Amino acid sequence: MKILFVTSEVHPLIKTGGLADVSGALPAALQGLGQDVRLLVPGYTQVLEKLENKRTVATFAVFSGQPEVKLLSAKMPHTEVPVYVLDAPQYFCRVPGPYQYELGGDWPDNAMRFGMLSRVAALLGSDASPVGWRADIVHCNDWQTGLAPAYLQLMPTTHARTVMTIHNMAFQGNFDRDWLAPLELPQSCFDMHGVEFHGYLSFLKAGLHYADRIVTVSPTYAHEIQTTEMGYGMQGLLKVRNGDVSGILNGIDEQEWNPATDPYLAARYDSSDLAPKATVKRELQQRVGLENNERAPLLGVVSRLTYQKGLDLLLESLPKLLDGGAQLVVLGSGESELERRYQHLAQRYPGRVSVTVRFDEGLSHQVMAGADIFLMPSRFEPCGLNQMYGMRYGTPPVVRRTGGLADSVIDAQAADGTGFVFEEADASVLYRTVERAIECYRDGKDFRRIQLNGMRRDVGWAGSAQRYLELYRKIA
Ligand code: ADP
Ligand code: GLC
Repeated sequence: MKILFVTSEVHPLIKTGGLADVSGALPAALQGLGQDVRLLVPGYTQVLEKLENKRTVATFAVFSGQPEVKLLSAKMPHTEVPVYVLDAPQYFCRVPGPYQYELGGDWPDNAMRFGMLSRVAALLGSDASPVGWRADIVHCNDWQTGLAPAYLQLMPTTHARTVMTIHNMAFQGNFDRDWLAPLELPQSCFDMHGVEFHGYLSFLKAGLHYADRIVTVSPTYAHEIQTTEMGYGMQGLLKVRNGDVSGILNGIDEQEWNPATDPYLAARYDSSDLAPKATVKRELQQRVGLENNERAPLLGVVSRLTYQKGLDLLLESLPKLLDGGAQLVVLGSGESELERRYQHLAQRYPGRVSVTVRFDEGLSHQVMAGADIFLMPSRFEPCGLNQMYGMRYGTPPVVRRTGGLADSVIDAQAADGTGFVFEEADASVLYRTVERAIECYRDGKDFRRIQLNGMRRDVGWAGSAQRYLELYRKIA
């Protein structure tokens, strides 16, 4: 089957979060199942720099009156997955970020940038494909690609079927209706049964309305988004389409995230011998300026610092945890208020709290491996990958029972427990759960059981890639 996987970020070319990890790993897994899967990504500066042996395979104007763009073709690094790059430098060659400028505001022409990406995806799934290859399935991811199903449905000719994966309902891509004309969408689709959402042109709504199938990245989140609390206004539409909605839990790239081979680690280990993990902890403490103390329970956080991730709840209980002897290492960036509060904490507890505010791939692996306990108290979490990385690295996670965290972590009380789970998004409940994890760590024996359960759990892509393939087959 010919599958076009269209995404606004992909590891190792460009990454702001888990979408990039999924986009790097799922197409490769589908290729492993014998499918002709190709990626389509925007030609950001980083993408153009990192991809070698690019060829121009088409030159055309996406919208009338717009300058011509190029489609480049290359292979993804370390895999054989073909990738098409939408090379439109005036739209994509901007620093610092794919979605936002320096001060954290969205690029004002995001509607055009990602409308263009969506339109090209649709073209590649139509008889007008500019590259002599036409997809049977266009697999869209998040709002940035949400117009692709709309463009395809509005075509008079036969075309690809579409799957829309929601990685996060909180991001919807809602724009002024004036964008309809430049994006060449007919006024008639600006309707409740179309792309309209509370008076705006909504990219996500378009995807959810026009796609043949809707997937979210965990079964629990698939239920949650059909409720008022977590549907962000789209729960009604999702309920109507209930029969087309399913949850497929993300996997992780088991080569990229493997403590036995990880090139970022000072020592490597696996479930048959965890002793070298202590070396990684020591190196991590040294690198981030924590006291060298093998016995201090080291709590780790790698995260976007946003409301979603619940890390404000942690701030309240940290003084008590630190006074009890714990250490904390944080790697993350996001809302400036949260960054500031964490940095303040680091100043107040030198040698016991370390906060690094930037994106650092290597350090993220070192925290995953070097910490003793990983913290992920998310208010909501469509899937979450870090808790699975933590399990794989023998660093049991503390998580709230929500979305993909509920589907991937089993509480320590069960024989096959892999982490520490709590219910309420409440600072004192979080505190008690972290305390429970620390007690277990200090006790040792039971902690080892939980570490080994996590390390031996199957969290790879094989099963989930197969589920996506079955879904494609149903609609193709
Ligand atoms: P989300 O996509 O909501 O941010 P996930 O858990 O699905 O959450 O994925 C987050 C990904 O981004 C993980 O690969 C994580 O390691 C990575 N990540 C987040 N913040 C940073 C950072 N500051 N430096 C390096 N990697 C980070
Ligand atoms: C989103 C979600 C996260 C999920 C990731 C990949 O960023 O916030 O929970 O793991 O997408 O699907």
